[in-house]
Amino acid sequence: MKAAVIEKQGGVENIVYRDWEDPTPADDEVIVSVRACGLNHLDIFVRRGMPGFPVPMPFISGGDISGVIEEIGASVSDWKVGDRVTMNPQTDGGMVGEELIGGLAEKVCIPGKNLVPLPENVSFETGAAVPINYGTAHRMLFTRGKLKKGEVILVLGASGGVGLASVQFAQMIGAKVIAAAGTDEKCDRLSELGADHVINYQVEDFSKAAWLASDKKGCDVIVNFTGGDTWAPSLRAAKQRGRVLTCGATAGHDAQTDLRYLWVRELDVLGSNSYSQEDIVRSVDFVANGQLAPIVSDIFPLKDLAKAETLMENRGFFGKIVIKP
Ligand SMILES: NC(=O)c1ccc[n+]([C@@H]2O[C@H](COP(=O)([O-])OP(=O)(O)OC[C@H]3O[C@@H](n4cnc5c(N)ncnc54)[C@H](OP(=O)(O)O)[C@@H]3O)[C@@H](O)[C@H]2O)c1
Repeated sequence: MKAAVIEKQGGVENIVYRDWEDPTPADDEVIVSVRACGLNHLDIFVRRGMPGFPVPMPFISGGDISGVIEEIGASVSDWKVGDRVTMNPQTDGGMVGEELIGGLAEKVCIPGKNLVPLPENVSFETGAAVPINYGTAHRMLFTRGKLKKGEVILVLGASGGVGLASVQFAQMIGAKVIAAAGTDEKCDRLSELGADHVINYQVEDFSKAAWLASDKKGCDVIVNFTGGDTWAPSLRAAKQRGRVLTCGATAGHDAQTDLRYLWVRELDVLGSNSYSQEDIVRSVDFVANGQLAPIVSDIFPLKDLAKAETLMENRGFFGKIVIKP
């Protein structure tokens, strides 16, 4: 098969479109013919290298996969060749695209029990935008954050994968959404999508702007997977007993904090990691029945993965970048 292979860790020049041995399924696995693979910031981290998390090279990243079952292991009984699927990349043996060979290729091998049906009315491109972003946001907002109707939520990085999923879930349940992003154009798109208030944090102090937008009460819930310089100001935007949610640190994990806000406002800082298969199944259902509408910003052929990852690194997209073999 053809694959976009990371030959060694570093820049996008290390991604080579080339032949890779076809996968063969163990008894409990299936081979999926990949129709679309969504990009995540994780793909950038896997290529660049993560301290303390070695990835064996050469490697194929990509965990947000949709496609059609091509071959079935002997003990897989619930599925048949030709079924449309997406999948939970968190397998018992590790994460597909981070620890196990991923889906930025023509085929991928996955345990049958990780498959999720992709309804006919959800395209492969949309299906590849759901599992990681919406699964992560679903767990973070509801299982960990207990977000409720009527609460005020501030989402930083609202234009990206997990960010837009968080905005859409919050809108779906009737929360008031303050969406923050890095350009006026992205803010305009977020307004068009129904965000109650938008903040361009490249030109505005988002902490002050969110405070004002919440009628000087502060936000019930803050989503901050950016870290870095944004951490302390996001605490300042929270209300008394607010919840600050984090699932990542795109701009740096060694952020400075301001402990005064933690004790004076009795804030809860809640980490959220990964998602369950149920988070993904429910997200796909919400998409299929029209309650959520993932946005695919750009589609690239697999041979142009380096261009797609450059676009993600330059923050020049809105929603999800999708790759097609
Ligand atoms: N723990 C988990 O299970 C889990 C799962 C999924 C994702 N994550 C983490 O969540 C974060 C977001 O992932 P994603 O795939 O949604 O990323 P993404 O699609 O690239 O979106 C991230 C957004 O953050 C904003 N941003 C702010 N500062 C940035 C910076 N220094 N570099 C790049 N973008 C920056 C960008 O929007 P603007 O340009 O508008 O500012 C960008 O659109 C990542 O850190 C990822 O590792 C964790």
